[in-house]
Amino acid sequence: MKKLKPLYFALDFQTGKEALDFLKRNDLTGIPVKVGMELFYKEGPAIIHQLKEMEHEIFLDLKLHDIPETVRRAMRNLASMKVDVVNVHAQGGEDMMKAAKIGLEEGAQGHVPVLLAVTVLTSSDQQMLKEQLLINRPLAEVVKHYGMRAEKCGVDGVVCSVEEAGIIKKHTTLAALTPGIRLAGGENHDQKRVATPEKARENGSDAMVVGRAIRDAENPEDIYKTIKEAFQHESINTHT
Ligand code: C5P
Repeated sequence: MKKLKPLYFALDFQTGKEALDFLKRNDLTGIPVKVGMELFYKEGPAIIHQLKEMEHEIFLDLKLHDIPETVRRAMRNLASMKVDVVNVHAQGGEDMMKAAKIGLEEGAQGHVPVLLAVTVLTSSDQQMLKEQLLINRPLAEVVKHYGMRAEKCGVDGVVCSVEEAGIIKKHTTLAALTPGIRLAGGENHDQKRVATPEKARENGSDAMVVGRAIRDAENPEDIYKTIKEAFQHESINTHT
């Protein structure tokens, strides 16, 4: 299993300046970060280069989902930016996931980024699957199925909620990266399947993504450390 960092801070900011100022102001320079659509579509590869200069590990979260050839060619370009982790939607199917892997290998110069497959977004729930996507199977079974198919395609890990991390760990050798993390008593926002860092650890999650709980905190540095420590407690040797 390729190595993920225990905690990626989601840089969900409108501009690169806001993101970089936040990291500097809160003494978070150099931590593993996730760059998503909001920031990347504004700043493009320049923000990746800036973050790399500041020695951040980067998860570029663009959740690709298109025909296999387009995804292969896009992944070639993402790999050439030397980011550490990238992802696709498992719903794009097996040919697309395999094409993503090939594209990464073609574009990487030495270091092939970790490839994750998003299973079911943590903002979705059973009712949404059923009513909007006409998927009648239990959500956990859908996640397990997507994980097992992803594994066959050479994907390194999945993105899933803490609720399904255990199923993924039981049925695959994949890493499980879990968003939807909240400290006890925190707000859920638009996330439907949320859990605490302690629960993430108990359920076998290998890594977490946290955005708003850190970004909107009164003391982001303290909250970052609290979340990381809560997750690593008792499993310090496996998540260094
Ligand atoms: O603010 P919050 O901690 O809910 O942020 C979660 C971050 O993780 C967002 O950047 C979101 O795009 C991302 N994400 C997610 N669910 C997934 C994959 C990524 O919430 N399945």
